[in-house]
Amino acid sequence: MDLGLKGKRTIVTGGSRGIGRCCALALASEGARVCVTARSQELLDAVVSEINEVGGEGYSVAVDLTSLEGCQKVVSATVEHFGGVDILVNNAGAARGGDILDLPTELIDDALGLKSYSYLRLSQLVIPHMRENGWGRIVNVAGGAGTSPTSGNIPVSLANIAILNMTRALSDAVSGDGILVNTICPGLTNTQRARDVQQASADEAGKNVEDVLRELGNELPAGRIAEPEEIANVVAFLASEPCSYVFGSSIYMDGGGRRGTP
Ligand SMILES: NC(=O)c1ccc[n+]([C@@H]2O[C@H](COP(=O)([O-])OP(=O)(O)OC[C@H]3O[C@@H](n4cnc5c(N)ncnc54)[C@H](OP(=O)(O)O)[C@@H]3O)[C@@H](O)[C@H]2O)c1
Repeated sequence: MDLGLKGKRTIVTGGSRGIGRCCALALASEGARVCVTARSQELLDAVVSEINEVGGEGYSVAVDLTSLEGCQKVVSATVEHFGGVDILVNNAGAARGGDILDLPTELIDDALGLKSYSYLRLSQLVIPHMRENGWGRIVNVAGGAGTSPTSGNIPVSLANIAILNMTRALSDAVSGDGILVNTICPGLTNTQRARDVQQASADEAGKNVEDVLRELGNELPAGRIAEPEEIANVVAFLASEPCSYVFGSSIYMDGGGRRGTP
């Protein structure tokens, strides 16, 4: 299947590592022109080289996306460099957990500032450019915590549920312009961040983090946690031309671990 991604002008937030890096490479290997963004320029430079190696055209903008100015800078620099924006992958997220009973509100501000305000702000900023061409794709990376809150993960749960609501509302607002807005909700995925988060449990149990990740995977119907490339492949499809009849949907990629419906 030809995904029709050749030359498509793309922004991937949080594109310097983990799931975002894999999304950038999946799109680039189909010939997309990809601007990756994150705070660390050094990591971005390495991903830009990888994008060019796999057949895409790489570009990067180093910004902190928690501010409106950061979001504006990414979009204006990409439009100047590529001449427009066709695809936005909202992926940057770094929420910290904590016990809900003594959680500092700054943790919630941080989570929402990056993982839902930047998703909405960037969408608002790219939509006029997508409307110019009558075509666009916005793919949000949220997570299962939006519908499976625990007392220890409320910042990321709030951010994720906000994204699920935004996905539906934004889709209704722009689907008539040929712009499709959808969300992926990964379960535990094998990135450095997942390892860092699980390291505390591993230390507490006196275990190796690899063993903890393996045990968590064994509890899933899939029998393992996800690899970031698996998430990226579905993101690339949702960003593609043949994905023409998926509107405002949230797709769970959790190895079958989610209970309840939807
Ligand atoms: N891995 C999982 O198990 C899992 C499960 C469910 C959902 N998710 C979601 O998937 C997404 C990616 O997760 P991941 O595991 O790939 O995370 P990751 O490896 O920690 O990558 C996060 C990316 O976001 C960037 N970033 C962080 N804070 C930023 C800020 N203030 N401004 C701009 N960029 C920022 C990071 O680069 P810099 O630090 O250089 O800025 C990095 O590129 C997140 O939204 C996460 O919540 C992950």
